[in-house]
Amino acid sequence: MDKKITVIGAGNVGATTAQRLAEKELCDVVLVDIAEGLPQGKALDLAEAAPIEKHDAHLIGSNSYDVSANSDVVIITAGIPRKPGMSRDDLLKTNKNIIKQVTAAVAEKSRNAILIIVSNPLDAMCHVAFETSGFPKQRVIGMAGVLDSARFRSFIAKELDVSVENTHAFVLGGHGDTMVPLPRYSTVAGIPITELIPKDRIDALVERTRNGGGEIVSLLKTGSAFYAPASAAAEMAEAIIKDKKKILPCAAYLEGEYGINGLFMGVPVKLGKKGIEQIIQIKLTKEEHAALGRSAAAVQKLVDDLKKLG
Ligand code: NAI
Ligand code: 2OP
Repeated sequence: MDKKITVIGAGNVGATTAQRLAEKELCDVVLVDIAEGLPQGKALDLAEAAPIEKHDAHLIGSNSYDVSANSDVVIITAGIPRKPGMSRDDLLKTNKNIIKQVTAAVAEKSRNAILIIVSNPLDAMCHVAFETSGFPKQRVIGMAGVLDSARFRSFIAKELDVSVENTHAFVLGGHGDTMVPLPRYSTVAGIPITELIPKDRIDALVERTRNGGGEIVSLLKTGSAFYAPASAAAEMAEAIIKDKKKILPCAAYLEGEYGINGLFMGVPVKLGKKGIEQIIQIKLTKEEHAALGRSAAAVQKLVDDLKKLG
């Protein structure tokens, strides 16, 4: 295929993302991991499914970055996931070193790639990738809002017994307990959910969305969610590869938008072949704005902790 996406990390999220990308027949897929045999084995297994799944995407696994050269998009999922009792922030030190190392290797081989960061703590890892790569801010994008919004959408659809396809939702802010689901901008067939669901039930769905990652961790016990995260990363990659100009909530480097400066935060953006082509500024109420400010403060604390790590 004429497009190439490299996925770094062939674990749960990485391998599932590779599967989604190949099955969408978007591009050839390169899987890179430090674990010997893992990316090779998973890529081969996925390639052997291709005749049944009816796609002609080529899949290659490697422990070296050479095969990743000149990728159009690189999705970074390398790092450790949460275990029960851990917050995303507990991953900071270990994943910082991993993201630094993999971003440097990726940036050397694919100078023009668009980076989609998945590893946690998401907003802080975007900073590490942004600083390490030296890429323009349009080409460093964090995946969280698409996942958090999909969780909210799935809960809304269940609550109203309607198709998930009728739902739309926005979750802004950092990818943590302070994330900001926006019921006013969340709709079913264009109707705001504030007109369809009583307030106490909306509050319950918002709370479940905020704890969505933790709910899965406590069920799985050995790791964190990967099917929905992979779908979310693949949707972002598809918007870029197909130059769809799709509006999605993504972590973007803000320079004054929403009154936030020098931080990666989840906001609605337009995704196309240049990466983030526009940051959409929607009107927020005083309470929503304050909630976004609290989320920004939590992300700022993580970035300060990153600096202390050196
Ligand atoms: P996993 O443990 O299944 O896979 C991680 C993979 O990274 C492993 O195969 C490991 O060998 C590899 N790896 C570690 N160090 C590496 C290095 N230096 N170079 C290349 N590969 C390396 O974990 P999983 O479930 O795939 O999660 C990956 C990351 O994504 C975690 O940090 C997790 O918290 C995060 N995540 C973020 C989400 C989001 O919404 N942003 C959603 C789900 C997961
Ligand atoms: C999630 O929200 C672990 O951040 C990941 O599932």
